[in-house]
Amino acid sequence: MCGIIGYTGHRPAVPLLLEGLHRLEYRGYDSAGVAFVQQDKISIVKSAGKLSALEAKLADHPTLLATSGIGHTRWATHGLPVEKNAHPHLSEDGSIAIIHNGIIENFLEIKEELLAAGHTFLSDTDTEVLAHLIGHEIQNSTSILEAFSHALKKASGAYAVVMIAKEDPNTLYAARMSAPLLMGVGTGENFVASDIPAFLPYTREVIFLDDAEIAVVKTDSWKIYSLEGLAPVQKSISHIPWDMQAAAKDGYKHFMLKEIMEQPRVITDCLSGRVINDSHEMRVQLHELDGLPIPRRLHIVACGTSYNAGLWGRQLLENVGGIPTDLDIASEFRYRSPILLPDDAVMVISQSGETADTLAALRLAKEKGCPVIGLCNVVGSSIARESDVVLYTQAGPEISVASTKAMCSQMTLITLMALYFAQRRGRKNDPLLHALCLLPNQLSEILPSLKKTAERLAIAFSGARNFFYLGRGQCHALALEGALKLKELSYIHAEGYAFGEMKHGPIALIDHDFPTFALALNNELFSKVRSNIQEVLARQGRIIALVQAEDGVLPDLNVEEMWVLPPSHPATAGFLALPALQLFSYAMADYLGKDVDQPRNLAKSVTVE
Ligand code: M6R
Repeated sequence: MCGIIGYTGHRPAVPLLLEGLHRLEYRGYDSAGVAFVQQDKISIVKSAGKLSALEAKLADHPTLLATSGIGHTRWATHGLPVEKNAHPHLSEDGSIAIIHNGIIENFLEIKEELLAAGHTFLSDTDTEVLAHLIGHEIQNSTSILEAFSHALKKASGAYAVVMIAKEDPNTLYAARMSAPLLMGVGTGENFVASDIPAFLPYTREVIFLDDAEIAVVKTDSWKIYSLEGLAPVQKSISHIPWDMQAAAKDGYKHFMLKEIMEQPRVITDCLSGRVINDSHEMRVQLHELDGLPIPRRLHIVACGTSYNAGLWGRQLLENVGGIPTDLDIASEFRYRSPILLPDDAVMVISQSGETADTLAALRLAKEKGCPVIGLCNVVGSSIARESDVVLYTQAGPEISVASTKAMCSQMTLITLMALYFAQRRGRKNDPLLHALCLLPNQLSEILPSLKKTAERLAIAFSGARNFFYLGRGQCHALALEGALKLKELSYIHAEGYAFGEMKHGPIALIDHDFPTFALALNNELFSKVRSNIQEVLARQGRIIALVQAEDGVLPDLNVEEMWVLPPSHPATAGFLALPALQLFSYAMADYLGKDVDQPRNLAKSVTVE
C-alpha cells in the first residue's frame, strides 16, 4: 500500500525523502511525489510510474534549501494511477499539502459541500478532498493543529496522514486512524513514516502512533495529542533491534531470494528460547500462552500466505495439540457474524501486523469477548499491539512483496504451539520436537541444490500458461501456497486444489498444456496421492512431483519430473517442500523477466480492505 515519509531536520530534505521512498518501494506503488517549502511556497513534484520518473523530474528543480518535506508512493484506490492523482495534494489556497494512506469513506459528501462552497478539484482522489477540508478549517480555527483535528474528526474511514504547512515549514503534522504510522526520533531531526525501513539508516528509536492520535513533529521536539480534545498523550520510545544490514539484499539478486535462503536461520531464531533442553528432556516453552486457558476451539483468521500457514497448521493443532481448530479468510470472517463461544480463542496470523481485514477480524473477536492470540512478525505493529497475547515469529524484516520466510516462521511457531498445548495436556511428542530442531541443518544442506533444480524446471516449464498445484492434507495448504507464489510473481494462472477434489470438476482442464505440480510427500496419504497422479497421467497431464525417498528408494511414479527431497518426519516435510515451491516461482519469474520483488498490482501490507 502507500508509502509515507516525512522529514524535518538539518539535512536537505528531498534527497532524504527519495532515499526513504526507495526503501518503501517494496510496499508496492504506481506513482510517487514529494512536497517541500521553498521561498515561502509549497512546491510539489509528482509523477506516475516508478521513482526514477519522479527523480528525473526533480532533476530540474532546485530543492537543496528545503530541510523539511513529505514524500509518498501511491497504490491507487480512488482514481487511476496517473500524475494528477499522485500525492501530495494541496488545499484550495495552497497553504498546506498532505500525503495519505487509507480511504476517506465519506469523501463524496465532503466534496459536495466543498464544491458548493466554491472549491475546485484537480484530481479524483479522496486525499485531495481531505486537503481541501483542512484548508477550509484553517480559515475558521485558531491554529493549524486545531484545523487539522477538526477536519480529521469530520472524515470517516482509515487514514495515516502527514501534512506540511507553508506558514510553519519545519513542522510535520501527522495523524493515524486504522493505518500504520510511526515516528523516528533522531538528533536534531525527526521522521514520520508508514514503515521503519524508511528512516532506518538515521535512527532506530521509534514511537508507534495509535489510532486517533496526532503528532506535531518539529526539528528538535515532538508532541502527541489525542484527536478528540487535543489532550497531550505520553508515549514511550522503542528501540528497533534490526539494522540496515537486515533490510539489505546482502549480495543476492533479489530480496525474495535472500529471504528464501534465510529460512534455516529463521527457524533457529523462532525456536530460540522456546525449546528447552533440561537434563536431557526437551520441552517447549511459550510463556506468552501460560496465562491463557487451553481454548475449547481455536479460530484461525488470516489472509494470503498467512492463511495458508494457518491451513497447514490446523492439522497439527488438532492432532498434536488436541485443539479443535477452524479457519477463516479474514475478509470473510469479519462480515459473516461468526459464532464465538466463551471458551474459544481467535488466532490472527500476519507478517506485517497491519493487514486491514485481519486487524478488523481481531477487533471483532475482541468485541465479542474472545481472547486473541496474534502471530506477528513486525514488532509494534497494530495487530501485535492489539492482540491479548502476541507471539513474535522473529523472521526479521521481510521486504519482498512475496511472503516466503514469514510463512516458514509461522509454520515453526504453530508447530511449537501444537507441541506446547500437547505438553499442557500431559502428552509429549518428542519425535516431532526433535525433527523440528533438525530442520535448520537439513534445510541449509538442501537449499543450494533446490535452487539449481528450480532453475532447470522453471526453464523446462516456462511455456506453460496454466498450472495446477495439487496436494492432500497439509500438502493441500502447500499447494495453495505454491499456486499463490507462481501467480503473484509470474502472472501465470495457477490453481491450488485438494487432489481428491480434482475428479469433481477441475480434472476437465487437464491436457498436455496444463501441467501439474504434485505434492507427493511421505505421509499417510501417499497412496491416495499416487492414485490421483495416475488420474492426471491418464489425461496426458505433465507432472512435476515433489517426493521423498524412503530408505534411498524413490516412489514408483511414472511422472515427467521427480523432484526428490530428503526423508523427514511427516509433519516437518512441509518445511522442505516450501522452499522448493518458493524457488520454482522465483526462478520462473526471474527467467520470464518479471519484477520479482515488486510484482504488478500488489502491495506488501494491505492496509485497505
Ligand atoms: O502481512 P500479512 O501476513 O497479514 O499479509 C497477508 C497477505 O497480504 C500476504 O501474505 C500476501 O498474500 C503475500 N503477497 C503473499 O506472498
